[in-house]
Amino acid sequence: MTNINDNYLKLRGAYLFPEIARRVTAFLEREPAAASRIVRCGIGDVTEPLVPAVLDAMHAALDEMGRRETFRGYGPPLGYDFLREAIVAGDFDGLDIAPDEVFISDGSKTDCGAILDVLGTGNRTGITDPVYPVYVDSNVMAGHTGEARDDGSYDGLTYLPCTADNGFVPAIPSAPLDLVYLCYPNNPTGGMITREQLRAWVDYALEHDAIILYDVAYKDFVREADAPRSIYEIDGARRCAMEFHSFSKNGGFTGVRCGYTVCPRELAGRTRGGEEVPLHGLWARRWSTKSNSVGYVVQRGAEALYSEAGRAQTRNVIENYLENARLLREGCRSIGLTVYGGVDAPYVWVTCPDGVDSWGMFDRMLEEANVVVTPGVGFGRCGEGYFRISAFNTRENVEEVVRRMKAMVNQPA
Ligand code: MLT
Repeated sequence: MTNINDNYLKLRGAYLFPEIARRVTAFLEREPAAASRIVRCGIGDVTEPLVPAVLDAMHAALDEMGRRETFRGYGPPLGYDFLREAIVAGDFDGLDIAPDEVFISDGSKTDCGAILDVLGTGNRTGITDPVYPVYVDSNVMAGHTGEARDDGSYDGLTYLPCTADNGFVPAIPSAPLDLVYLCYPNNPTGGMITREQLRAWVDYALEHDAIILYDVAYKDFVREADAPRSIYEIDGARRCAMEFHSFSKNGGFTGVRCGYTVCPRELAGRTRGGEEVPLHGLWARRWSTKSNSVGYVVQRGAEALYSEAGRAQTRNVIENYLENARLLREGCRSIGLTVYGGVDAPYVWVTCPDGVDSWGMFDRMLEEANVVVTPGVGFGRCGEGYFRISAFNTRENVEEVVRRMKAMVNQPA
């Protein structure tokens, strides 16, 4: 019989968001009348349609595909130059990033898993807690962890607690790590890192020859003027960091699928024999072997996000989501809950009321308010006692969520 990858059997339960969907379905089977009332603020999925600049570009590209003279077959495996150049001009103006250091993909979720193809086993890996579950699960699947413990954490990973006390930015560890995952603006806590804190992480990585995998999927939500939008704003980051970008949240591409990574040419790892090898060539080899990149029409759509019209239009959409986050923050505060995040990020991180744990709050919100949220503990042990509300929704729904939460506290338990 064929061998399977046993590491998959170490995974605890389902991936978080399908598990939430399963629980919502089970609730609706019990209470079908609630179906029309459900408001989904769980997974961070956008609700606003693609902006006109993107639609126009995609329509034009589709027309090109319909004519023999302009039809395109396989594209360059690492992405079209027009998109790589637009990215460098738009996201790295004044920073030392070249178009051939940009790798186009179908999204940063893919990249977060794929990167482990080119990294070896035995790396001491630091993961923030709470964390975007993809980092953990993809390490489990790749065999980079031991077994799951009773609390859902895994042997072999170093968890870096992110708590209200440290502002949801992990302390620099005293022990050396080889690989560290950081995500700012943070999913799930909605927190942001300061330039000084990020500099401390870059210094740590340089000192310990470590690599930082820096996820900036939510960078266009940052409003704090001095906050870093890219790790490459910090001196030395080219030698110790890869950056993961997504068009899902800023461009509404969750269903379109496009993102990119930056892998600077200086970034290197080590062979078992101790020889230094740049990751750039390995990453390029990985993509050109395992993928034919992303469709032409999609890449033209992504390019349009960097046009003047695209920028102005997406800015409006992002402002709208951030206003939702503000309303959710204010609403939660008005009923006595302690709230974090939601200023430079589309996620509001809320402390559960006394005596209620994360899944308990998920159940209460679902059953009493018919609102789907994400239980904080689903993102890791340090998320216990919190729940996350996504601001990706219509204004009408957000106002309704606030009304229902207020009504919930006014009802006898
Ligand atoms: C989330 O809700 O945490 C994210 O939307 C999930 C994702 O981006 O894959």
